Amino acid sequence: GQTTVQLLPTEKPVEISKHIYGHFAEHLGRCVYDGFYVGEDNKIIPHTNGVRNDVIAALKELHIPNLRWPGGCFADTYHWKDGIGPKANRPAIVNNWWGGVTEDNSFGTHDFLDMCELLGTEPYLAGNVGSGEVQELADWVQYVNFEGKSPMSDLRRENGRDKPWNVKFWGVGNEAWGCGGNMTAEYYTDIYRKYATFMADWTNTGGLYRIASGANSADYHWTETLMKQLPKHLVKGIALHHYSVIDWKQKGPSITYSDEQYFQTMKSAWFMNELVEKHSAIMDKYDPKKEVALVVDEWGGWYEVEPNTNPGFLYQQNTMRDAMIAGLTLNIFNNHADRIKMANLAQTINVLQAVILTKEDKMLKTPTFHVLEMYKVHQDAQLIPLQIKSADYVLNGEAIPAVSASASRDKHGRTHISLVNIDPKVAQEVTIDLAQQRKLHSARLLTSAKLRDFNDFDAAERIVPTSFKAVKLEKQQMKVKLPPFAVVVLALD
Ligand code: AHR
Repeated sequence: GQTTVQLLPTEKPVEISKHIYGHFAEHLGRCVYDGFYVGEDNKIIPHTNGVRNDVIAALKELHIPNLRWPGGCFADTYHWKDGIGPKANRPAIVNNWWGGVTEDNSFGTHDFLDMCELLGTEPYLAGNVGSGEVQELADWVQYVNFEGKSPMSDLRRENGRDKPWNVKFWGVGNEAWGCGGNMTAEYYTDIYRKYATFMADWTNTGGLYRIASGANSADYHWTETLMKQLPKHLVKGIALHHYSVIDWKQKGPSITYSDEQYFQTMKSAWFMNELVEKHSAIMDKYDPKKEVALVVDEWGGWYEVEPNTNPGFLYQQNTMRDAMIAGLTLNIFNNHADRIKMANLAQTINVLQAVILTKEDKMLKTPTFHVLEMYKVHQDAQLIPLQIKSADYVLNGEAIPAVSASASRDKHGRTHISLVNIDPKVAQEVTIDLAQQRKLHSARLLTSAKLRDFNDFDAAERIVPTSFKAVKLEKQQMKVKLPPFAVVVLALD
């Protein structure tokens, strides 16, 4: 296939917020308990206050800018006061959304926020609107952010933390149209105004960043209602959730992940582009200066449990298919960085599209991890707009673009171009017009021969970035030969 990419002059500078590269950790399956948190008394797995050291080191490599917690659907069932104070006194709860398991609340507010400090990442707390109270959420903000003397800051000090954490990012409920309370857009909008009003802004970090629970995929009425009714001083971001899924009932189980199923998954990943453009267009009507961000705080692939993998709840084997979803989706986010200021991959570890998997004392980095590591060069870089004419990836008479791309210039003046070829069979010849003469600094490739290839616990990691040679640069034109299933990041001076 033949693809052309043209780098365009920047009309209005747009920064790719590093927060687009955020993550999400929910009390779901083995994400928190027996995931990154193995308990303070664990004698087998090296840890810091119960959080695995190997996971901390790996996440630091990604420069993860923010971490969303404790849900997801779980957030609207979570009462934060259950998770503070001496661990022996914390009440057990039943995790109703995710398996009905009993949790002992040994991982709570202090544990999470201290872990974020260890990771050097900004916490994003999702508040309980569905089954909580206005006062409860207002108290949480005061507990976490208030410096002076108050009932909540006194309680925080009693529990061993003097200084506030100054948490900036706050979700006001989650999926209010569904697990967060099955509300209508109109009802949620009203209730949002009330909750947001009482979440006082105690931060010293430039304002509380309140994020409204957003649309279910293509529910444009939801976004329209929020944009029409929410006063700007109460909202910084509106969420959007979209998973790359296929209709399993129609297509059959994942045992035989067919060409058709892969195609449909990629089509679903591309659908993110349409969603972002349509939701953004609605936001533009009410907010032409783009002061309110689109926050895609849940994205990734979601499949049934795969064969020959752990049967853990929502555990799914992360393969090259996930690397394709990640590269393609991040290109979409980069190219819409004028409106998308934050996004969160679901989820950090052991469940859904994880960047890390653990098994007892072992840990591995998934293909998705490596895509995020390769793409971290775009964090806080200036977007270079581009025009792309991609070859088609065609199956059974349907076509989607095979190649996606995004580009940025970092603070040191280095340009990075990311390219993804999702076609499973056809290599792509990509011609890039750089608009000026450049020197190739380096090129990295992540690929594997088969779609279902994955990194496993018992062998050395097979899927890792390697140096990429199939690049020819002549003056301002570059020719790149992308193999099937390829994620490439080029660095140019
Ligand atoms: O990430 C898993 C679940 O997906 C989240 O809890 C929910 O918000 C979404 O439906």
